[in-house]
Amino acid sequence: MGMWGKRDDMVVHGREPFDAEPPGAALARAAVTPTDTFYSRNHGPVPRLAPADWRLTVDGLVARPLTLSLDDLRSRFDAAEATVTLQCAGNRRADLTAVRAVPGETPWGPGALSTARFRGARLADVLAHAGIAPEAAHVAFQAPDVSPSARPPQPYEVSVPSDRALAPDVLLAWAMNGAPLPAVHGAPLRVVVPGWIGARSVKWLTHVTARTTPSDGYFQAVAYRLPPTGDDPEGVTLGPLPLNCAVLTPSDGAVLPRGPVEVTGYALAGEGRTVARVEVSTDGGRAWSRAALEAPAGPAAWQRWRTTLDLPPGDVRVMARAWDSSGAGMPESPAQVWNPKGYVNNAWPRVRLRVR
Ligand code: MTE
Repeated sequence: MGMWGKRDDMVVHGREPFDAEPPGAALARAAVTPTDTFYSRNHGPVPRLAPADWRLTVDGLVARPLTLSLDDLRSRFDAAEATVTLQCAGNRRADLTAVRAVPGETPWGPGALSTARFRGARLADVLAHAGIAPEAAHVAFQAPDVSPSARPPQPYEVSVPSDRALAPDVLLAWAMNGAPLPAVHGAPLRVVVPGWIGARSVKWLTHVTARTTPSDGYFQAVAYRLPPTGDDPEGVTLGPLPLNCAVLTPSDGAVLPRGPVEVTGYALAGEGRTVARVEVSTDGGRAWSRAALEAPAGPAAWQRWRTTLDLPPGDVRVMARAWDSSGAGMPESPAQVWNPKGYVNNAWPRVRLRVR
């Protein structure tokens, strides 16, 4: 077994903070990712919080500030369960770096995304119990892990607009795939914001604060933004995920015998949409053929796809693209052109194969 209970063959981008993604073939194997295969992205050391001493504080613009133990959360609120795909904003950055350089950022492959069955209380129920004020336009989530990469170093804190926080699908999860959350995934409690970048699904949650403005913490105000440019002083705060797809098998660089080749991958549409179509090209994007698409296991879960290709001998590049239920295709944003950090990038995935 590898670090943090992960499988031995994880692609480890960093040991401390721990950043790791599963190999494509392992990720492709199941619609719900086993916990030992689930990617992990951390900005600081993993805090070890004793569940018995841990408390969640709910404060800010609320009528009744709360301090809740894990037992309080389990006993006072209905439990909800959902199969959710979490995806890091940096997922598939490596496909973008094939197009142009993205200095200083982790070159994640297609595995900075995984799917689990999460169980917990609805954040909306907890906020209703606290009496969230109408003027609370944002809800901030804080955790005790201090990131040395933040400027200045500070505990992890981000926020979501309160209309997102109050939607019934946002969970305060204590369980993942039928077991208590492991330390590396946020024990004893994490936020799960389906369909939004993983950065908003705060692990090791200790504070929920209702506010008039977004969090001014580094990971909200500086990181996870498309940075301001001369003609755009605001930049873009990332939240809802854009449409994305990837090839998982065969892996990039694979050498294959002649004959039919099964190509598999996934597509993910993001909040409120499903994937409508995935297509694959082997001739640089001139001709495309449709792949078979699996139904999603939940409203914010990925959809796996597969197709069988008869590839000519020699070097072949397999590319994929997707459409979602709103009719949007890829690339649906100009991320390749002006997104210097390579966030939520939807460059077409490209896998090079050699057929003998
Ligand atoms: N929460 C805390 N407290 N600290 C973190 O570094 N990383 C975020 C998010 N929540 C992070 C966090 C990011 S960027 C992602 S993509 C997801 O957690 C990763 O969740 P996982 O490690 O459970 O896969």
